[in-house]
This record gives sequence, C-alpha cells and structure tokens, in this order.
Amino acid sequence: MKIELNKDVLELFAGDLLVYFLRETGGNAVLCPCKVLRRNIKYAWKNEDFSGKQGETFLFYPSAAKKELKHNLDAGRVLAVGLGKIGDNLDALREQLRLAAGTAAQQVAGLKKVKSMLLVLPENTGLPDADVAECLSEGLLLGSYRFDRHKNKKKDDVISLLEIASFHAENLNPDEVKQGLHQGERAAKAACTARDMANEPGNVWTPKRFADFGEKLAKDYDLECTVLNKPEMKKLGMGGLVGVSQGSIQPPKLVILRYQGGGDKKTPTLMLVGKGLTFDAGGISLKPAQKMEEMKYDMCGGAAVISAMQAIAEEKPKGINVVALIPASENLPSGAALKPGDIITHFGGTTSEIINTDAEGRLILADALAYGIETWKPDAVIDLATLTGAVIVGLGHHRTGLLANDDSLAEQILAAGERAGEPLWRLPLGPEYSKQIKSTVADIKNSGGRDAGTITAAAYLQEFVGDTPWAHLDIAGTAWDFTEKSYIPKGPSGIAVRTLLNLVRNWPTGKK
Ligand code: BES
Ligand code: MN
Ligand code: ZN
Repeated sequence: MKIELNKDVLELFAGDLLVYFLRETGGNAVLCPCKVLRRNIKYAWKNEDFSGKQGETFLFYPSAAKKELKHNLDAGRVLAVGLGKIGDNLDALREQLRLAAGTAAQQVAGLKKVKSMLLVLPENTGLPDADVAECLSEGLLLGSYRFDRHKNKKKDDVISLLEIASFHAENLNPDEVKQGLHQGERAAKAACTARDMANEPGNVWTPKRFADFGEKLAKDYDLECTVLNKPEMKKLGMGGLVGVSQGSIQPPKLVILRYQGGGDKKTPTLMLVGKGLTFDAGGISLKPAQKMEEMKYDMCGGAAVISAMQAIAEEKPKGINVVALIPASENLPSGAALKPGDIITHFGGTTSEIINTDAEGRLILADALAYGIETWKPDAVIDLATLTGAVIVGLGHHRTGLLANDDSLAEQILAAGERAGEPLWRLPLGPEYSKQIKSTVADIKNSGGRDAGTITAAAYLQEFVGDTPWAHLDIAGTAWDFTEKSYIPKGPSGIAVRTLLNLVRNWPTGKK
C-alpha cells in the first residue's frame, strides 16, 4: 500500500473512502469539521450509534443527498471513526490514534471495493503534527496486515484491495506531516516484516533464511553483514549455539549486522541480540505435543532485531552505531542431540551443566552476548527472546518482561515501550536468584527450577554481560497472542520492533 500526503482540497477527492477521526466530547454533539458528515452524524448521535467513542464507526454515502445538502463531496463513502476522549497523556493519545487507524483498516477489509482512501488528520490534539501523522500511518498499515501467502484460495474478506492511502492535513505543517507519515510507514513495515518471518513455518523460516535476509539487507542498504557458520562457531568455542543445533540437520547461523550512524570514537554503540530459534521441540527434554506448532514462533526475538535493523537502515539515524546479532538454530531431539547432564563450554570459557535441553534459548544467547561484547565493546546491550513460559504466568499476554542491570537503560526502554503501545514491566535480578543456577559440576546450570523462572533465565544471561549496561526483554507472552487490538492481528504481533526503533530514534547522543 502506498502512503502519501494529499495537498488537494477535500472536494477534489473522488476516491472510494474519505475517513474522519472524531473525538468523544461528552457534550450533546460530535465535533466534526465536515458539514455533510455533521448533518448525517447528528442522527447517529441521537440514536446513540455514534458519539466518538474509541472503536465506534459510522459509514454513509454522500452522493445519496448531493443536491439536498448542497455539497460537492465526490468521495464514494465517508467513514467516521471514534478516537475516544482526548486527554493530556500523550502516549495514550498516540495509542488512540493507532487504534482508530487500525479500526479504519478493519472497516476497509470488510468493504469489497475500496481501492483508495483519504484520511483527514485531526487537529488540535496536543501532539506534534508529525506524531499525529506517524501514529495514523502506523495504525493503518499494521491494521491492514494479512498473511495468506500459503493459501491457494484467498478469501474475499482477507483480500485488501487498498492500493493507496492519502492523508489530508488542512492546518498542519505539510513537511512535518510528511516526515511523520514516513516514520510511521517504516516502523509498521518493519513490524510486518517481523510478523511475516514469524508466520512462516519452521520448514520455511530456517536459520539460513535469517542469514539470507541479513545478507540481502546489507546488499540493499548501507549495512555490513557477517554470517558465522558452524566451523567458525566451533573454533570460537561457542558451545551453546553448537550444542543446541547438534540435534538438527539445519546448520546454525550467527547473523551479524552493523549500522554505522557516526564515524567518531564518541558515537555510542548499541548492541542488539535476538533469539532466532526457528523451531523449539524442546530437544531430548521434549515438549508435549499440544501447541507445539506454536514453537515456530520461537524466533520472534531474532525477527524483531533483524526487522528493526531494516527500519534503521532505511531511516539512517545519526549519532548512533548499532550492531545486531541473531543466533539462529533449531532445537530438536535426535541421536546427536544435547542430553540432560551434558556439560558445555560457552564462548569465553564459562561451563554449563544442561539440566533441561528445553532451556535452550539462554544457551544460544549466552554465546552471542559474550562474543558481541568482547568484539564490539558496546555502550549498551539489549537482548530479546521468547525465553520463558513463566513470563506468561506472571504478566499474561499484555506486557513484556524487562530485566536489567542498569536503571537508566531500563527507564529508557520502559518509556520507549509506552510510546510505542508495547508496555513492559520490570522484574528484579539479584544474587539470591543467581544462586539458583549454580551447578555442583560446572560453573552454572541452565535451569534454576520452576520458581522465578523468568528471573533465573535472565540471571543466566547476566553471567555473560559483565559490567556492560544490559537489558533483557522476555517477549514469550507478547510476541504472539498479544493484547487484542484493532492494529494487532491474532498470531504474531511484531512486538518490540517499534519499541527498538523508538529507542534508537531517541538515543541520548554522546557518551556519558
Ligand atoms: N521457547 C520456550 C519458552 C516459551 C514457552 C515461549 C511457551 C512461549 C511459550 C523456551 O525455550 C523454553 O522452553 N523454556 C522453558 C525453560 C525451562 C525448561 C527451564 C520453559 O519456559 O518452560
Ligand atoms: Mn525451549
Ligand atoms: Zn525456546
């Protein structure tokens, strides 16, 4: 779908759908800048069908009463979408705009013949013009997402014919609006890329596909891509990544992407690490069959990181360098697989006793974290992983678990998440939790038991980051089946892509 700013007068729009976003005033009428819509909506309001509440919609056909109402709107349909009450919480307002645009996208999906739409940006919301445009384009594109690549017969209602969405901004700054539209577009496109990767099954989205994608990004943009293969991993002593992959015939990959947004030594480097486990059967500690198919989503951390790199490569933010690592592997049982009781050695020499082969995510992340920190000495590290079922027990599907050894980094991530509509909740770390993963035969063990499962998993990762400011996002509950919203479909959500992008866009410049 093409997104653009339309500078023509409204009356010239002769496309299929004109959309207004209207707020809930609580008074006895709905505020609307359009005369025709005002006349129509009066009746909807009287009948209590539409009062501007979040999620409400109202559709009518302006040509039906062209003469009577003496108007010259040429749009095929007019749709009003409720924004809800507008208060002064700007993050909440951003979410209201995304939700309303997502609702518009859902309406379009239900209308058979909408190829073009014009969306009128609301005015005087309290948000900068660019942000209004950003959130609306984001919500519209995220809400229009479909994955039907593998269906021969595509259902009518899932075919989006929408080819072009133009935005009309009467009294807003056109340059800012344009910039906002494109910011939203890049972010939404990247999140949809992550959704696509996750939707692809394990037999399609293999570790090699992560490598191919990284190499293609590097070819298309100004990024550097390196892929480490099994022989190099062995030489480097990455016993975690090698060990987890040894039960599978798919060779593991460590995909590394680098973006340079500043040449001098003062430019801070952010390191991102994403779990790219393309199918997690549990290994010898085999998972139950029920819902095992969902473990094709166990690569969502890697998808978030590599998709965020796509947006970063397009946007080219100044004053920050980003290095991304995606350890990618399958976790399957076989005669060659890792066994409970085995002891492995991670990059850097730390030894680990395997208690449960299903606690594999921390094993592949540990090597990537240790290797990346030693190689690039980043100023901050963020890893993302569908790491524990325990985070779903604790936070459900509504918040990502956040664990960090640095308060200011944690605060930055919490704020970016709020801004993106992807809330997180911080959990503690500490020596009492680290003690749970001490082993009697090796330095550490890969399971600390059921208690505090999310925290002990993070405590395992903490062993590999030293003093580097580090944060871990456990997205097991939010990477799919995330809080139902108009712009979040069932299945993979593309979680954390927009949070990461927000973080990079607002990264404090210069070293501390
Ligand atoms: N990929 C899973 C975590 C997971 C479970 C994500 C359910 C989403 C839904 C991870 O590799 C895993 O199996 N973790 C184990 C760890 C345990 C064996 C210590 C878990 O959470 O049960
Ligand atoms: Mn597992
Ligand atoms: Zn896993």
